[in-house]
Amino acid sequence: MQLSSLFASPVLLLQLCIDSLRFMFASFFSKLYYSTVYSETISSVAPAASKVHQEKDRNVMTPTSVNYHFTRKCNYKCGFCFHTAKTSFVLPLDEAKRGLKLLKESGMEKINFSGGEPFLHDRGEFLGELVQYCKQDLQLPSVSIVSNGSTIKEEWFQKYGDDLDILAISCDSFDESTNQLIGRTQGGKSHIDNLHKIRSWCQQYKVAFKINSVINTFNMYEDMTENILQLNPVRWKVFQCLLIDGENAGEKALREAERFVISEQLFQEFLERHSSVPCLVPESNEKMRNSYLILDEYMRFLDCREGRKDPSKSILDVGVKKAICFSGFDENMFLKRGGKYVWSKADMKLEW
Ligand SMILES: C[S@@+](CC[C@H](N)C(=O)[O-])C[C@H]1O[C@@H](n2cnc3c(N)ncnc32)[C@H](O)[C@@H]1O
Ligand code: SF4
Repeated sequence: MQLSSLFASPVLLLQLCIDSLRFMFASFFSKLYYSTVYSETISSVAPAASKVHQEKDRNVMTPTSVNYHFTRKCNYKCGFCFHTAKTSFVLPLDEAKRGLKLLKESGMEKINFSGGEPFLHDRGEFLGELVQYCKQDLQLPSVSIVSNGSTIKEEWFQKYGDDLDILAISCDSFDESTNQLIGRTQGGKSHIDNLHKIRSWCQQYKVAFKINSVINTFNMYEDMTENILQLNPVRWKVFQCLLIDGENAGEKALREAERFVISEQLFQEFLERHSSVPCLVPESNEKMRNSYLILDEYMRFLDCREGRKDPSKSILDVGVKKAICFSGFDENMFLKRGGKYVWSKADMKLEW
């Protein structure tokens, strides 16, 4: 059709306008329709896909390295402590062993006993029995303990030392008055003298010796290089003081650790000051928060993702596979912080 004839006919012109409007409406509504349908499809598929992903993740999560805080009781009063005496419960020995067996059957290779203070309950006999059971019966490649060291006796090493791979003693300062200020002491006894005594027992009874330090406002300017080099631990774990709601922060907490917390920059400065120490393993808040599989006194995994410790159901009631889904464990961060290392004393090639 000629353009001139089109403009000559008002009817045709009107028809053309109607058609154009119809086309515009149609294309607008079709876009709207498709965008709605598409986004609905995406949102209905995406959770399903991520659910599948999560399920898959859950299925592959293995409790390779577990920290069992079987008691919350302690004889020290460290002001920053993030695992406080909220209960005095400890499982019966047989139940604790049953849980450890379940963990072994689910792939556990390393168990670390912690607390509270693990050497207090039954004067260290409960702990000794578990150490022996994990090494001799469960044949775990690595059995370790974290302790403040204050109540360990030489007899304990004589009885259980063979079955223990690593003993970590916490020490935040080599200045006795700083330990007093922190609360890492009992009745004025020297924490540092005790540390040296335990170090020599570790040597004598062939247990790998480790040190843990929490860097906080009271010790952040200290230079511990010489002391650490002299003690020569296999690892020196250096933690940035961490806040956990309900433990050392917030209304219901038994500790108020805000005054101990230091910035990332001050933590980095501490690390730089100690860069000549080869065994130093740093753990910032970010690295620490979700990279530990923590079991509490009821054998419930504790999920720290929300900045507090949310418990799962007990592995004794629902099994490891179901409980571990609620652990909040970040396996990648665990690997990134060097969570997997040579952890059997037999493989460490130590000069005793
Ligand atoms: C809760 S304690 C239990 C074992 C033992 N009572 C001890 O102090 O070694 C386990 C480890 O957590 C560390 N720790 C406690 N509170 C902390 C916090 N707020 N931030 C970082 N590490 C902390 C301790 O220094 C210790 O090395
Ligand atoms: S960090 Fe201190 S208060 Fe907390 S459990 Fe260990 S020794 Fe006890």
